[in-house]
Amino acid sequence: MPHRQIRIAQISDLHIKPPGRLAYGRVDTARALQRCVATLNAFEPRLDFVVISGDLADTPSGEEYDHLDRLLTPLKVPFAGIPGNHDGRELMRAAFPNADYAFASGALNQKIEVGEVDLLLLDSSVPDKAHGELDAPTLQWLDAMLGSSTSRPALLFLHHPPFVTGIGHMDRQNLLNAAALEPIIFRHPRARIVAAGHVHRAALTMFAGVPCTICPAPNHAVDLDLAELREPSFKVEPPAFHLHSWFGGEGFGQLVTHQVPIGEFDGPHPFFGPDGKLL
Ligand SMILES: [Fe+2]
Repeated sequence: MPHRQIRIAQISDLHIKPPGRLAYGRVDTARALQRCVATLNAFEPRLDFVVISGDLADTPSGEEYDHLDRLLTPLKVPFAGIPGNHDGRELMRAAFPNADYAFASGALNQKIEVGEVDLLLLDSSVPDKAHGELDAPTLQWLDAMLGSSTSRPALLFLHHPPFVTGIGHMDRQNLLNAAALEPIIFRHPRARIVAAGHVHRAALTMFAGVPCTICPAPNHAVDLDLAELREPSFKVEPPAFHLHSWFGGEGFGQLVTHQVPIGEFDGPHPFFGPDGKLL
């Protein structure tokens, strides 16, 4: 009998400000998150879980996390967040007191089981720095978690991409010790994807033999400037999230990542008329 599908949505880089404040004086990130939550709630079939891959707040404060909490209250799907460089670990620990963090202090790593899939949420934030790094306890924890099964597919999430995108000012603050992550993933074939955020725009490569993605944001996108032609800039491009769909069953199973636009769109309209002919 085929296993059921498991649908994991990834949203990233919410950058929630105190109420009434715009990011960079221009972007209403709260309104953007409201639209995102509405799209997640309306998705059919129902989503199983939502991972928020960092930068939940913008200039982290209790006020920003309180605002975030109110904006996430309407979300009908269980969710968990990992810190990005715009978050504060202790503020996040306080903001999500029911999260099952692996460590009592330090990095906010989590293992979450969703049906036959393991989600491993890795805290790549470095206090008061923009770049990312996985500390030694996190790397050891990841190796142990991946070693705890040989069969369950594992999806790895972290904020900072372990690869360069070509956008120089972002690449200088990506995951600086990607070389320490790589052999761990190679050791455990049940790792099926490494899914990051931070760059506010979709990107895909291979890392340690598995697909490695960057999730777009619900608000603004980092300008796709591949030659440092301009000052670090953003554009308000169409918002989107990633949907990681696990299709189990016999054999190795399959993980497929869809990019889903945020908002309401014309349709769906049928391809075929009542006579069964293509319209
Ligand atoms: Fe970030």
